Amino acid sequence: MGACLLEGLLKFLGCPKCGCGVELSDSYLKCRCCGRSFPIREGFPDFRVGECFKGVNTLQRILYNMYAPFYDVLESRLIKLYGVTEDSLREEVVSSMDIGGGDAVLEVSVGTCGNVPYFRRFTEGPIVGLDISEKMLSRCVENLGMWSVEDVYLVLGCGEYLPFKEGVFDRVLIGGAFTYFSDPRRALREAARVTRAGGFVVVYDQVTFIDRATGRDKLPVRVKPEGLELLSYRYLFGKLFYVAKFLKH
Ligand SMILES: C[S@@+](CC[C@H](N)C(=O)[O-])C[C@H]1O[C@@H](n2cnc3c(N)ncnc32)[C@H](O)[C@@H]1O
Ligand SMILES: [Zn+2]
Repeated sequence: MGACLLEGLLKFLGCPKCGCGVELSDSYLKCRCCGRSFPIREGFPDFRVGECFKGVNTLQRILYNMYAPFYDVLESRLIKLYGVTEDSLREEVVSSMDIGGGDAVLEVSVGTCGNVPYFRRFTEGPIVGLDISEKMLSRCVENLGMWSVEDVYLVLGCGEYLPFKEGVFDRVLIGGAFTYFSDPRRALREAARVTRAGGFVVVYDQVTFIDRATGRDKLPVRVKPEGLELLSYRYLFGKLFYVAKFLKH
């Protein structure tokens, strides 16, 4: 990430451990309060604190790092097997976010940035993508170049410890993998924290037969923190996906 892009990102950034602002030092970012430093790896500021790698998150990182080169092609084919196009899924999810004007948008678990061009249709404002997998983010950079989508900030981090200040985003999407985060409750609380009052948090995920049988598809509703109000919960494409939309009070 270039120095200019990093400058633009700074106003959103907060230490994932203490919440204070961070500043740019030569080749790393540093928390103004606790002094913790965050390296820049392969062009991405790296906010993956030790706690990010608890439980299943370590495995998620390893698996998605391996899957990254194949993700776009395979996922698009897999979804077609169910008679759904990737385009229709992303349109449904992103339109449910009600993005407008100059909204600042964050996608947690942004992957290879498949939703980002859809955000851009609705906002000229800043778009930030966060993921635990560096290889997925590298694919993201290639995709954004190919699609000519500009001014997107990408950071390494985890949904459970977001490296952003309170209330800096108008819209936050947790896009896939939420059910398999090591601490979904904490991740939804974090998404609520970084969303401004009156803004929306949207969670979408795939629904498997096991998710339906065990009620795991209702996880976002069960772990909803105070301060988030459930506005809608709906299934898409015959219960292949769910989209839960919350209002931040
Ligand atoms: C199924 S992909 C979804 C990518 C993208 N949102 C999309 O719609 O194409 C799931 C992504 O979640 C990321 N991920 C998994 N656990 C995470 C966590 N705890 N914090 C942040 N990202 C995580 C993975 O690295 C992967 O890129
Ligand atoms: Zn700090």
